[in-house]
Amino acid sequence: MKQTQTLWLVATFALAVGCGGPMTSNDAGADSGGANDIPPSSATELSAWIQAGSWRMWKCEAAPHAPRGNSPHGMNRICQNSIVTAAASGSGDFPVGASFVKEVYDAMGNPTAVFVDTRRSAATGAAGWQFFMRGGDGMTMENAPFCATCHQGAPRDLSFTIVP
Ligand code: HEC
Repeated sequence: MKQTQTLWLVATFALAVGCGGPMTSNDAGADSGGANDIPPSSATELSAWIQAGSWRMWKCEAAPHAPRGNSPHGMNRICQNSIVTAAASGSGDFPVGASFVKEVYDAMGNPTAVFVDTRRSAATGAAGWQFFMRGGDGMTMENAPFCATCHQGAPRDLSFTIVP
């Protein structure tokens, strides 16, 4: 994807989160790694990182889909960084730095929130993960216990979905 197009997409996302309007899909399947591969851990920086659309060069599902299983997330699309992709065919815990994003949409297809799960340490289970979300209104939530409680039922290391 060309740089100008990338910037346009990021700007589109920021606008869309602010005032509605459809979110343009990125080039699903591309995974550039690099500077935005591991999200910052401080809540303030992570919130800004989300607002900037920094995950949008990750490997993503092609399109939003209805929630799967017992997911409470509504229409959503999942993306993963290159650390997840590199470990996708393995088993057990993901390496430190592995990170997933879930984009959540309302019934009209407008983005309403972004969720980011990142493995921050090699500690077992939820203790090793940061669970974070940012709503379109800028509201953030970090490590709410109910996130990990439900994600503990996921097939691998608190993670439900690996983008193929
Ligand atoms: C009641 C169960 C449940 C709760 C509570 C829950 N999730 Fe999830 N989550 C799921 C399921 C199921 C999926 C995968 C399928 C889907 O969403 O369509 C998922 C997917 C995700 C993903 C994409 C990576 C993956 O594991 O597939 C992220 C990121 C995520 N959730 C973050 C969060 C955060 C942050 C919270 C708390 C604010 C949270 N979730 C609360 C069930 C839950």
